[in-house]
Amino acid sequence: MDKIVILDFGSQYNQLIARRVRELGVYSEVVPFNVDLEELKKDDVKGIILSGGPNSVYDEDSPKIDKELFSLKPVLGICYGMQITQSMFGGKVSPSEKREYGKSQLRVLKENEILKDVKDESTVWMSHGDHVDQLSPEFDLLGDTDSCFAVAKHKELPIYNLQFHPEVTHSEYGSQIIKNFVLGVCNASQDWNMGNYIEKTVEQIREQVQDKQVILGLSGGVDSSVAAVLVHKAIGDQLTCIFVDTGLMRKDEGKKVMDLYGEHFHMNIKRVDAVDLFLDNLKGVTEPEAKRKIIGRDFIEVFNAEKAKMKDAEFLAQGTIYPDVIESTSIKGPSSTIKSHHNVGGLPEEMQFELVEPLRELFKDEVRQVGIELGIPEHMVMRHPFPGPGLGIRVIEEVTKDKVKILQEADDIFINALMEEGLYDQTSQAFVTLLPCKTVGVMGDNRTYEYVAAIRSVNTSDFMTAHFSRLPFDFLDSVATKIINEVRGINRVVYDITSKPPGTIEWE
Ligand code: XMP
Repeated sequence: MDKIVILDFGSQYNQLIARRVRELGVYSEVVPFNVDLEELKKDDVKGIILSGGPNSVYDEDSPKIDKELFSLKPVLGICYGMQITQSMFGGKVSPSEKREYGKSQLRVLKENEILKDVKDESTVWMSHGDHVDQLSPEFDLLGDTDSCFAVAKHKELPIYNLQFHPEVTHSEYGSQIIKNFVLGVCNASQDWNMGNYIEKTVEQIREQVQDKQVILGLSGGVDSSVAAVLVHKAIGDQLTCIFVDTGLMRKDEGKKVMDLYGEHFHMNIKRVDAVDLFLDNLKGVTEPEAKRKIIGRDFIEVFNAEKAKMKDAEFLAQGTIYPDVIESTSIKGPSSTIKSHHNVGGLPEEMQFELVEPLRELFKDEVRQVGIELGIPEHMVMRHPFPGPGLGIRVIEEVTKDKVKILQEADDIFINALMEEGLYDQTSQAFVTLLPCKTVGVMGDNRTYEYVAAIRSVNTSDFMTAHFSRLPFDFLDSVATKIINEVRGINRVVYDITSKPPGTIEWE
């Protein structure tokens, strides 16, 4: 299979570049910038993309590459990738007076295959501190903006430079430019699809795990479910799924998970009752990060205990997906350190497992495609995401059994109503959060003094940014009425209209 290799200089957008290449049906891989050049010489590598990155090319410890790289394959340097190219070919890079961040207007100055089908003027998205203020004499300028050289090409070699980020959707013709590079310049064949992904990943899992046993925490969410079925496909009964009943799951979740994955998929699946462990440890804890850490630690305690009961269980499989990685990673070149693991809320260091994370490079919608391909029912695959710490971070501040029960009932009403009205699939993530304050109301002729529930529903494609859903007022009205009438403990419902950023999707 042909592939495009993306050299990682530490940009947040590396996987987004990989994704854009995958969308063209071409396989792509993100590798550290200091990869052995021999790897890049291989025949299946059709092109190299140099990603952006947080460094300045003049920093002493900034990532450097060997100039020989430019003679191997066609190269597309993006942002830092442009600056490093220019600095190595005699151009001049300097710090900008102010960071250029956001939209700019690109003007095409000269026709070239990299700009095929790109309008003379279009919007591009910039995010850089340094910029090139003198282009290498070996390069032609193909496009600019009011403030910088934006597109350049080596006069003889297939080396292209972009100062903006073509991989983000705000760059109007970004996907077209990537297509021009991958299909036009590199002539890569379009023989990659989710079927190949599954095959390749199945092989990798077998190689990693050999004859050892793997434990996987199956929550019933999309990511852990798809990971479970994928790992099961690779190693069958060497996988034991553990459904941890944390007491923080949605209503009837345990039964649904056991029925589908145990009965339907014939997987080894064990339900562990850990309600007391989780709720006891959360007693009196109000700070969100502390709650996440406790929940993460409790999960590992359960897994370690289960591991002790099994022979050769050396691996823990997880449905970590790319946005989880990026949101919990501090990036500095290839030596990225995972600070707090999003998926289970903070893995303690004493964890006694090696990780298997077969979805680590994928975005949510790609994970769903894998799930469908693996035969998971659509209603499970299309489920909204549910966070690892569960209702533990949706009962705001202190978590108690009673509050969880109240929240489960309210959430169930809201989700069922969305489904009944055909709105579930039109929203990306919807849930109820229980607030830690009581307010006064009147029901019948009596005063009530009960909790406030906040309804949250967002629309997003990548979960890194999101807008609140424009749900019809009549719908919100009927949901609020039903919750207040039917859930003992809630007498007021509010709708959260915060976008991300500045808010996050979850309240904690
Ligand atoms: P935020 O709240 O950061 O959430 O905007 C973005 C997406 O991630 C989910 N989320 C989590 N998922 N473990 C998870 O598996 C977690 O600790 C976690 N925290 C947030 C959130 O529901 C949303 O889909």
